[in-house]
Amino acid sequence: MNYRHAFHAGNFADCLKHALLVSLLRALARKPTPFRVLDTHAGIGRYDLDAEEARRTGEWQQGIGRLMDITEGPLADYVGLVRADGGYPGSPALAAALLRTGDALALVELHAADHATLRELFRRDPRVAVHKRDAFEAVRALTPFPERRGLVLMDSPFEQPGEYERLAAAIGEISRRARGLVQAAWYPIKGRAPVRAFHTALRESGVRDILAAELHLREPTDAARLNGCGLIVVNAPHGFEEAARSILEALRARISLEAGAGWSLTRIADE
Ligand SMILES: C[S@@+](CC[C@H](N)C(=O)[O-])C[C@H]1O[C@@H](n2cnc3c(N)ncnc32)[C@H](O)[C@@H]1O
Repeated sequence: MNYRHAFHAGNFADCLKHALLVSLLRALARKPTPFRVLDTHAGIGRYDLDAEEARRTGEWQQGIGRLMDITEGPLADYVGLVRADGGYPGSPALAAALLRTGDALALVELHAADHATLRELFRRDPRVAVHKRDAFEAVRALTPFPERRGLVLMDSPFEQPGEYERLAAAIGEISRRARGLVQAAWYPIKGRAPVRAFHTALRESGVRDILAAELHLREPTDAARLNGCGLIVVNAPHGFEEAARSILEALRARISLEAGAGWSLTRIADE
């Protein structure tokens, strides 16, 4: 496991994933009944953008660095939560910020040092449980949820070959084990072919109600580069599609500035 998110926190991929995650969590919190969030690749929870790792890549400057002055419009909720955090909040810190008293957050992180940092961060929060185990094993162990409503976020670093296939299988498994849960799964866009194969696998999996929200930095002609990224959303709450379109357009306007940049929101499977 070589990937450390501290080098990448706040980059354009985090902005896409986290802005849409905030919208999904707000929708879950609209109903008074408790919900649970399972974050299968949690990282360390919160990041210091002045730290050596973040400075070395400077990736956040082309991501959250371009958004921090936003106070209105579709990104204001997400950016407001980042400002309020003080550091850069990863998915665990964003989820914790939006959870109510009776809600629950299960965080899974396999990297020993990152797991220890994460556990320390949430030591005093009784709503949060931190697990050191494999993400895909955790999906089987921790679903269905006792609350019967909530969200699973899968945010693999895509370090290993076969990750699109593992992710498609996990989405299918969650859908079979806990049909109504909202699922959000991040994926990289380097070349077109692997993404097309991933979408086809999802379309043929039998899982219903799948959207793919993508932000494209440029045409994916050089497959050695991260040319964009996407978030698969299963069982999107009512109103999410419209919110996602506005969020994607607002991200494009600030972040995706090269020729060939853009966004898309595609329905992969009907409700
Ligand atoms: C992209 S980062 C997560 C970022 C986090 N979700 C966020 O948005 O703030 C991916 C994390 O997954 C962890 N990881 C990699 N393989 C894993 C596995 N098989 N099971 C659990 N965690 C894993 C890595 O150590 C890394 O911290």
